[in-house]
Amino acid sequence: MVEKSLILIKPDAMERGLSGEIIKRIEEEGLTLIGIKMLHMDMALAEKHYAPHKDKPFFKSLTGYISSAPIVAAVFEGEGAVDLIRKIMGTTDPAKAAEGTIRGDLGIDIEHNSIHGSDSAETAKKEIELFFQKDELFSF
Ligand code: RTP
Ligand code: MG
Repeated sequence: MVEKSLILIKPDAMERGLSGEIIKRIEEEGLTLIGIKMLHMDMALAEKHYAPHKDKPFFKSLTGYISSAPIVAAVFEGEGAVDLIRKIMGTTDPAKAAEGTIRGDLGIDIEHNSIHGSDSAETAKKEIELFFQKDELFSF
């Protein structure tokens, strides 16, 4: 099924100049970039985006981190985009992520793990609406 998925390029990757590398890896797998922006998330947006984790012990640290510096938000579209991006990202903890994945190759630790990607088509829809207006997404 053709789907959309949201990614966030986290502060650790932005600081090391890795945004192009991350976008390239996703485009090379055949997904199409249909929306992109740079922004500095405030705490309110961070708390909305990570609301499913609000009861986790790492919630405060996670929302503080994602709102600590400018990030890139982007939407990709293509066949099975959600699962394909999760595969390209690798597992949450870079220490456990496979070589060849974004987190395995570029991530620093479980918090500074370079990229967020939507975890289902339903979550993707909600997340995309948090970051993008309809007229900020394009088709080719
Ligand atoms: P993401 O949402 O960022 O794409 O990552 P994910 O699905 O692989 O991981 P998730 O379980 O949704 O966790 C969201 C983010 O929280 C941080 N985290 N810290 N300290 C910890 O034990 C811990 N566990 C998760 C990670 O930065 C993860 O990306
Ligand atoms: Mg997640």
